[in-house]
Amino acid sequence: MKIAVVGTGYVGLVTAVCLAHWGHTVTCVESNSQKLSLLKSGQSPIFEKDVEKFMWLYADRLVYTDSCREACVDAQVVFICVGTPEREDGYANLKHVFKAAEQVADNVSSDCVCVVKSTVPIGTNRKLERLFSSKVRNGCTVEVASNPEFLSQGTAVYDFLFGPRVVIGVASTRSEEVLKNVYANYTGPIIVTDRQTAEMIKYASNNFLALKISYINEIANLCERVGADVETVSLGMGMDSRIGKQFLRAGIGYGGSCFPKDTKALHWLAKYHDYEIKTVKAAIEVNENQKMLLFKKAHRYYQNLEGLTVAVLGVTFKPDTDDLRDAPSLQNIALLLEAGAHVRVWDPSGYDSLKILFPHSLDCCDTIPEAISNAELCMIMTEWKQIREFAPAEYAKHMKAPVVIDGRNCYSPESVKNAGIVYDSIGRPRILPIVEPASAESTQTTLVCRSFPAVLSVSTDHSHLY
Ligand SMILES: NC(=O)c1ccc[n+]([C@@H]2O[C@H](COP(=O)([O-])OP(=O)(O)OC[C@H]3O[C@@H](n4cnc5c(N)ncnc54)[C@H](O)[C@@H]3O)[C@@H](O)[C@H]2O)c1
Repeated sequence: MKIAVVGTGYVGLVTAVCLAHWGHTVTCVESNSQKLSLLKSGQSPIFEKDVEKFMWLYADRLVYTDSCREACVDAQVVFICVGTPEREDGYANLKHVFKAAEQVADNVSSDCVCVVKSTVPIGTNRKLERLFSSKVRNGCTVEVASNPEFLSQGTAVYDFLFGPRVVIGVASTRSEEVLKNVYANYTGPIIVTDRQTAEMIKYASNNFLALKISYINEIANLCERVGADVETVSLGMGMDSRIGKQFLRAGIGYGGSCFPKDTKALHWLAKYHDYEIKTVKAAIEVNENQKMLLFKKAHRYYQNLEGLTVAVLGVTFKPDTDDLRDAPSLQNIALLLEAGAHVRVWDPSGYDSLKILFPHSLDCCDTIPEAISNAELCMIMTEWKQIREFAPAEYAKHMKAPVVIDGRNCYSPESVKNAGIVYDSIGRPRILPIVEPASAESTQTTLVCRSFPAVLSVSTDHSHLY
């Protein structure tokens, strides 16, 4: 089939290369000139496994352009994959979606189906249909269908091709047939429903996953207070198939381009319909607090962060992506800088976007040892494989004061026990190298680290946290 894809970000480009993999001819429209020139030169503007390989493998079926006319003129199907960031009030900003739809309306020259892959609030597909009925001039019919995307960054190509379901929201059997042809090579189940229900499936799914993350993070916070281990709690819960083990990893909260904005958008939508969605409201609040947890924990060790060298390992919102949108690291880095700390970061996905956000104020390092060298504190923000494989004893070797606060539970307590570091993770008992209680009644513990030049006094009273 001849397909146009408008917007080649994480969703659009993955959609395009996967549709090309299934044999379709795809023309991609991208308005960002930098991204477009990369695409034209065969390079992927996003850091996503297999995307560049597919671009190269199916180069004869993939075209990149900034001209909506070139893409839409004879397309049977047009996918809208542009961003829907949050507005200041929390609702989804639909300006890119409506602009893309107008461009499609101006340029189609035969009947086609416009498929909305962007995550849009319930009712948007209907509004777009009205836009097409009023704008398309040359007697063509543009039907609007919803086809929300469920891929995860880091495994996006696999998720697109082999995801557990495809959801199609349609208002006619013609749209249903067209979309079934698009997905003819997909072997999983296809749920066909109306457009509002399809739009809701996407929001309900993302919000449920965000809830699950916030729930386990609250359990983790409680584990720290009662001396339980959240990793084992998650294991024990996740083995129950009614619960499932995914999205039960405690940490410093969700980030990225979807959960933060989609929770706020659903909360806003509910309010608009005179309903308060309390569970989602709580998930948002919990996440906002959780994102600050490492910065708060840093004050367990240093009352004043001014002049301190702090290593931040990982800045992306999760591993295997270069996406920094709403990453918990960003707020922590900003607070560290504000407190006068000297921040050295390491992330394997590159620093272009980070340097735009924090010009001249960060040391961007090529290796983990370089980042932690002489640091007095290390914060792990993203569970990159390179960090999980970095031996805990190396922190003691390189750091001035080996205090490691791990926001992603990268290490098992066993692997850290004899590493000679202070290891403070999420929802698990803290591990100290040598502990000498000052006195039986005291809440002050004297901690002597092998490579500490001095003695560090650590309060075991956690009430000042959270
Ligand atoms: N990123 C994810 O993991 C993910 C997963 C599922 C769903 N979604 C949803 O998919 C949508 C897209 O997300 P994304 O992460 O791919 O966004 P993105 O910001 O990475 O990509 C959007 C792209 O569209 C381009 N664009 C904007 N307006 C355009 C126009 N008029 N013509 C041509 N190009 C245009 C932008 O330059 C950008 O490259 C969002 O609604 C998002 O919520 C995202």
